[in-house]
Amino acid sequence: MKRNRLLIALTGASGVEYGVVLSKYLREMGYPFDVIYTNGAEKVYYYEMGKKLSKVFKSWDNVYTNDDMSAPFASGTYPLLGMVIVPCSMKTLGLIANGIDLNLVARAASVQLKEGRKLVLVVRESPYSLPMIENMKKVALAGATILPASPGFYHKPKNIQDLINHVVGKILDQFQIDHDLFKRWGF
Ligand SMILES: Cc1cc2nc3c(=O)[nH]c(=O)nc-3n(C[C@H](O)[C@H](O)[C@H](O)COP(=O)(O)O)c2cc1C
Repeated sequence: MKRNRLLIALTGASGVEYGVVLSKYLREMGYPFDVIYTNGAEKVYYYEMGKKLSKVFKSWDNVYTNDDMSAPFASGTYPLLGMVIVPCSMKTLGLIANGIDLNLVARAASVQLKEGRKLVLVVRESPYSLPMIENMKKVALAGATILPASPGFYHKPKNIQDLINHVVGKILDQFQIDHDLFKRWGF
């Protein structure tokens, strides 16, 4: 069975644009993926970008909302490469760290962990409280990768898009998906 399909979840942390850029990039590449977005993501995106997330994803046939527990990837039988939550709110991190499958994002993440598949959490908060750090430790011990939304500056970014691309490229690297989003160190 071919397992190359990626699941992208967008939650209500600052920087929902990271998830939008990733989704658009994979769509342009013709790479197979599904998207879930939460109400929180919709609110933050509108606040930060002045656009409706539902409008961005309008007419895409691979997009699900967070209450759709009958989505195929709520089951481990759906053949996924893995899942990235970008950005990942502290609330969603807390649900996953404590095994609470309250909504589709938390359920799908829990499925990745139980099936031993790749789960990447692009967390965003500053500063972190001890419970947040403990939750990151818990998911890391369970097999997830914490990839904070903290772009590097060593590739000499010229604008915000370059900074976004650095984080999005680092996510694609985790899934060994080729990209040209930043110049690699040493090349
Ligand atoms: C403008 C705005 C920015 C926010 N930024 C963050 C953030 O960076 N990190 C975070 O954990 N929560 C942030 N929140 C709070 C979350 O959106 C909130 O906890 C929400 O319930 C998360 O739900 P979700 O994970 O289901 O999307 C922000 C909220 C707003 C309105």
